[in-house]
Amino acid sequence: MGDQPSRWWKSAVVYQVYPRSFCDASGDGVGDLEGIRRHLDHLAWLGVDAMWLSPFYPSPMADFGYDVADHCDVDPLFGTIEEFDALVAQAHALGIKVLVDFVPNHTSDQHPWFVSARSSRDSPRRGWYWWRDDRPDEAGGSGPPGSEGRLPNNWRSAFAGAGRSSLPPAWTWDERTGQWYLHQFLAEQPDLNWGNPEVAEAMAEVLRFWMRRGVDGFRVDAIHCLGKDPGLPDLPSHLEALPRSATNDHPSVHPVVGALRQVVDGWPEPPARMMVGEVFLPGAEQVVAYYGTPDAPELHLAFNFSPTFAPWDPVEWRRRVDEVETLMGAAHTWPTWFLSNHDRPRHRSRYGSDARARAAAVLLLTLRGTPFVYQGEELGLEDAPIPAGGRVDPGGRDGCRAPIPWDGSGGHGWAGGARPWLPWPPGAGGGRSVAAQRAEPFSMLHLYRRLIAARRSSPALSTGSFAWRPAPGGVLAWARRAGSDERFVAVNFADRPARVVLPAGTWAAEVGTGAGAGRGAATFGGAATFGGAATFEGAVDLAGDEALVLRPAGPTR
Ligand code: GLC
Repeated sequence: MGDQPSRWWKSAVVYQVYPRSFCDASGDGVGDLEGIRRHLDHLAWLGVDAMWLSPFYPSPMADFGYDVADHCDVDPLFGTIEEFDALVAQAHALGIKVLVDFVPNHTSDQHPWFVSARSSRDSPRRGWYWWRDDRPDEAGGSGPPGSEGRLPNNWRSAFAGAGRSSLPPAWTWDERTGQWYLHQFLAEQPDLNWGNPEVAEAMAEVLRFWMRRGVDGFRVDAIHCLGKDPGLPDLPSHLEALPRSATNDHPSVHPVVGALRQVVDGWPEPPARMMVGEVFLPGAEQVVAYYGTPDAPELHLAFNFSPTFAPWDPVEWRRRVDEVETLMGAAHTWPTWFLSNHDRPRHRSRYGSDARARAAAVLLLTLRGTPFVYQGEELGLEDAPIPAGGRVDPGGRDGCRAPIPWDGSGGHGWAGGARPWLPWPPGAGGGRSVAAQRAEPFSMLHLYRRLIAARRSSPALSTGSFAWRPAPGGVLAWARRAGSDERFVAVNFADRPARVVLPAGTWAAEVGTGAGAGRGAATFGGAATFGGAATFEGAVDLAGDEALVLRPAGPTR
């Protein structure tokens, strides 16, 4: 596999910042760009190579910023464009690349493009969005104009909203112009029409705007939704209860993504810019298509969501790793791994214990592919419980967006003090703050740092090949190799101990997830590994839910 230095994203560890919840410097209870800048030392200390910033653009915040009203500015809630420039400059000075969120499928209904589009059927922007007439009687329509019986098709939008059991239609009736407009997400997020070349050019300009400001790439929101069958046909009945965005994978998306790739690859100044796309579709076989082909490349990287739906089970995980290894072995298809993000329940909550979350960190950071760490997972944060009536997100994703506690004080390092926009996660005043975990050498935070450092120092771990190794039931073990560099990784998914047979040779402890307390070098977990003295031949014993990374301590075969 080619490892040209220009393809920095292959060996990078990327950290996702959700700006509303990272740190508030202004005192309004919502995180902001200055709050991020002040904590860049956290990212540098952790050792990440890049950060992805979720949206900070002007927005009415119906979808907390994924409803963009101006793609080329900063919402006053988050700061100013000058503060953005300062953030990028400081990140770059620390060696941290910056990716911004590019939201191409829709705009806010307050975006000047849509305001114009809905002002009149003759607006020059009308064709930038999707408009349809009422379903006529002869096509099965019934009822007054703009009523549910006259919806143009059976597509549903993505968010139920509080207190609704079924998903609302993906169409909203526009009284003034007497037509429906399409929105795969909220009514406040009308879908752009990528079949219109003016849309493609205007959005390419958005990419250029941010590249001119020095960003190193883009996380592309809901990219699989961009292609639509121009006839907008009904979905078959077995799919109609699903949000349209969960099945929207029309072939017309691929030339659109290919054209975006050319805009990004065509940027003349180094470093090479990168696009990682959110392909929120069920299977890796669907995701891989978004890398394009060697002759017609599309995304540099694509998020594969399937592992975030895997229970803590070795068979389920092995199947997902196998899928990726089988489908994403070609030079143009480098995998990604992530366990959590701002849309999914945190994996610490899904897996139910610190021991499992620690072992999961080993999966994330030692499988073949680029890992994405979601802010707070390095603290082992759980989702915050949201009190009845306290839900603010139409998609019900508040828990995983709880604010980051920087210290154990009442305000946890937020200028807004004790009342941020969402409740604090469990343990914010105890062991889950950044300050508490910096002071505790066996914390989750130090484990992430050690794993990231291990990756960085090993070509095998960062870009090497992957091969399963024999392991007892309940355990997955694999080898990573690049030239003469090799690592052996074992993860025990069971809560009982397991003995793993090692490849020939002497192996040394590199990183283990054991908490240290009361564990000796012979079993590898914990404190004893710090001396670097622990070596193994023949086999190694894992505690329940323990994971380890070993490196050769002498010649191996
Ligand atoms: C993506 C984002 C999500 C947002 C949706 C609509 O899935 O990650 O947060 O609600 O797109 O933009």
